Amino acid sequence: MTALLLEERADRLVVTLNRPDRRNAIDAAMVEELHAVCERLAESPRLLLLTGGAEGIFAAGADIAQLRERGRLEALAAINQGLFARIRALPLPTVAAIDGPALGGGAELAYACDLRVCTSRAVFGQPEVHLGIIAGAGATYRLPALVGEARAKELLFTGRRVDAAEALRIGLVNRVVAEPAGLLDVAHALLDEIARASPLALRLTKLAVDAPAAAHPQVDLVAQAVLFEDEEKRRRMTAFLERGRAPKS
Ligand code: COA
Repeated sequence: MTALLLEERADRLVVTLNRPDRRNAIDAAMVEELHAVCERLAESPRLLLLTGGAEGIFAAGADIAQLRERGRLEALAAINQGLFARIRALPLPTVAAIDGPALGGGAELAYACDLRVCTSRAVFGQPEVHLGIIAGAGATYRLPALVGEARAKELLFTGRRVDAAEALRIGLVNRVVAEPAGLLDVAHALLDEIARASPLALRLTKLAVDAPAAAHPQVDLVAQAVLFEDEEKRRRMTAFLERGRAPKS
């Protein structure tokens, strides 16, 4: 890997975007490497922490030098959109940890994750209309889902940047960390909390929440039916009912 740094842990993969001289702009190499990460996580499901580190940048968007040369066929190939859809569909929860700008495709990459934590110097924005294009990698539907249609349209029409305090207020991020040095600890602590849950329950919860509105309540019924037959459910419920009691001889 050249555009990413990977840290393998038993229950999670930590992926750091690593093109600092281009402000982590997402180029073809980074896209390819993120696909490889998705493949790895699909084969062996784990939590994902995706970050630009605590160096004051998450990602400055798609690589504008490459974007400028792309034509309509490349747009239709859904290069970033396809990758971000794949990230959203990863089996287990994903957390983006953002320090500094997350702009354009960089913001859309953060929205593709399930949860977001950021530092007080994070900024989010969709400047695409100023470059003569739309925010084509998820912001037109993920941003309204996060912050509501009117706020999303304002941000998409104006390209206005949202700071961390506003991002927290409007529901774009889950937590704001005052000091960059604490960002990854807070993100890991959130993942630690999540990691205490049954992996299959997490997986099916994610599928149910991300299912289209018309799939409810049937998708929830099927998910629960699967879980009711799961040995882990029996073990966890028994542990609850028997807590504090002497183990049976
Ligand atoms: N694509 C390609 N190159 C990019 C880039 C992008 N999205 N974002 C930054 N870079 C390059 C710059 O051209 C610059 O290259 P240079 O060193 O050859 O001049 C280098 O990365 C550093 O960027 P710079 O703008 O000097 O850094 P900064 O710290 O002052 O500002 C940003 C950081 C992110 C605020 C600023 O780079 C920016 O606004 N980037 C574009 C954001 C954007 O419009 N994204 C939407 C893409 S669809």
